Amino acid sequence: MEFRRITGLPPYVFTIIDSLKVEARRNGEDVIDLGFGNPDLPSPDIAVEKLIEAAQNPRNHRYSSSRGLPKLREAFAALYQRRFGVDLDPETEVINTIGAKEGLSHLMWVLLQAGDSVLVPAPSYPIHLFAPLFAGANVREMPLTADQDSFFETLKERFQYSWPRPRVIVLSFPHNPTTMCVDADFMQRVVDFAREQEVVVVHDLAYADLGFDGYLPPSILQADGAKDVAVELYSMTKSFSMAGWRVAFMAGNPAIVGALAKLKSYLDYGTFQPVQIAATVTMNEAQDYPAEACAVYETRRNALCDGLERIGWSVQPPKGTMFTWAPIPEPYADMGSVEFASMLVREANVAVSPGVGFGPGGEGHVRFALIENEQRINQAIRNLRSTLTRLDV
Ligand SMILES: Cc1ncc(COP(=O)(O)O)c(C=O)c1O
Repeated sequence: MEFRRITGLPPYVFTIIDSLKVEARRNGEDVIDLGFGNPDLPSPDIAVEKLIEAAQNPRNHRYSSSRGLPKLREAFAALYQRRFGVDLDPETEVINTIGAKEGLSHLMWVLLQAGDSVLVPAPSYPIHLFAPLFAGANVREMPLTADQDSFFETLKERFQYSWPRPRVIVLSFPHNPTTMCVDADFMQRVVDFAREQEVVVVHDLAYADLGFDGYLPPSILQADGAKDVAVELYSMTKSFSMAGWRVAFMAGNPAIVGALAKLKSYLDYGTFQPVQIAATVTMNEAQDYPAEACAVYETRRNALCDGLERIGWSVQPPKGTMFTWAPIPEPYADMGSVEFASMLVREANVAVSPGVGFGPGGEGHVRFALIENEQRINQAIRNLRSTLTRLDV
């Protein structure tokens, strides 16, 4: 049998590290897992309480609304007003999605057809690359550079030299895996360019609330004229540690929101209504939660980056996200990221993600996810020190 849409998919390299981790744990090893970006913090208490309460009411057991309950969309619009000063009409400019991943994937079906082209940063979070590919589009990569100004030049150049003319530009800052961050001025330049060129911009703001050292990640919807060309994905996964609940939103240009709503009305009936109710109350009442979670990640970032610096592994401390993007230390650079990451699981009991899992542009790096507590991160540093020193000799 041939499954043409998926046959060409490369193997998901993260599974290689994951199976090494499982194997080591089965052998009784204490592996410190800094691999998968799966938040370890508990969801807000109020989310759990409201979920239980709503689940006990049989009225909530039926099909729900695919676009999201009106109160859920209102709570989201209020959050955007508080956090970004952005006005959204909950009726026409907001739709609930089953996580950012689902929203982004189906959005690509709406925006792209076979043969269309789309610009995507490289390296990238896998679905940014694969959602357009699933839609049959041609992906043109925009290599990420160290600073936003030169990246903007790359974006313009790639746009100009791509044929067919790109219909969509995918962006996501703070960026997974590179942790690159941008400011509001960058967003304005992107929006101005997109309006000039009449191209749609899809911005995945998965790390909306994870900015460190006083940095607040901007929304693209803060830019003047953004709603003419842009939509943004905001997820409760990281901001409210609600990964498994699958609650996210797409907001912005009403025609695009309406188009996704139309497609989704054929595909799903929305998330389980008690989940929508719990998410509504959480956004309204646990308003301090995202900043508290961010403070935890910032402490972990400090522990990891200071620790790596102490053992002679120099990394750029991230200004945002829940990751650290680390160049493979010189003596091991030739190994490649999969072999290096495999070695770290086997020899140091530390799991990280190989950079090449985020596309060829990620080779030469590994990604640490800040999903273990400070003590465990310090233990990881000790393990890394003894392994890397031992192997150096
Ligand atoms: C850039 C980016 N987008 C989306 C997601 C997934 O978000 P969700 O859980 O809402 O699907 C992640 C999770 O790691 C991510 O890094």
